[in-house]
Amino acid sequence: MSIYHVGILVGSLRKESYNKKIAQFILEQEESQFSYRIIDISELPLYNQDFDDEGNPPASYTRFRQEIAALDAVLFITAEYNRSVPAVLKNAIDVGSRPYGKNKWDGKPAAILSSSVGAYGGFGANHHLRQSLVFVNLLTMQQPEAYLGDITTCLGTDGKVESQKTKDFLRSFKNAFEQWAERIIHTKGQD
Ligand SMILES: Cc1cc2nc3c(=O)[nH]c(=O)nc-3n(C[C@H](O)[C@H](O)[C@H](O)COP(=O)(O)O)c2cc1C
Repeated sequence: MSIYHVGILVGSLRKESYNKKIAQFILEQEESQFSYRIIDISELPLYNQDFDDEGNPPASYTRFRQEIAALDAVLFITAEYNRSVPAVLKNAIDVGSRPYGKNKWDGKPAAILSSSVGAYGGFGANHHLRQSLVFVNLLTMQQPEAYLGDITTCLGTDGKVESQKTKDFLRSFKNAFEQWAERIIHTKGQD
């Protein structure tokens, strides 16, 4: 049985981030053909094209680009900042997309889950993120969409996902993503 490697990119650096707790829930689910791990984006300096033009990118860029290249699929779990994508996550997408002609995201399956303490569940971040993913050619699952609003009400005092409805939704979202990713990976294999 093949194992597919999925990188989770979390759009929040906060220690007690709710989005990190959702990522943790995904990591704790039963083993499947898909193996998940969180990719650290906290150490990436702000993208500056000079690094690449001068052939001297920071070691953290090189490491990150190698990690992305080795993935079969990408799952974004993100907060919303001022109705858009947190800068740390946008920066990671930019770093992975360059130098020109060496876009590491190209053709990989992806999905987006956004969450917020507010009622709209990070809808703005979710859709702004989709706009960038179109350009870097990440093949992003359309349905089911995932906007988790009022996220604090879904978590227990231990910080773990507690609401049964949320657990069921996250498991069905994960299953749908894996089916989506598998279809794309197999289609690529036939090219
Ligand atoms: C700079 C900043 C901007 C924010 N903008 C939004 C926003 O546009 N929409 C929203 O629903 N919540 C917004 N929030 C609140 C976040 O939903 C909340 O801080 C949440 O806990 C962030 O996710 P995290 O727990 O994973 O860090 C914002 C928070 C910060 C720090």
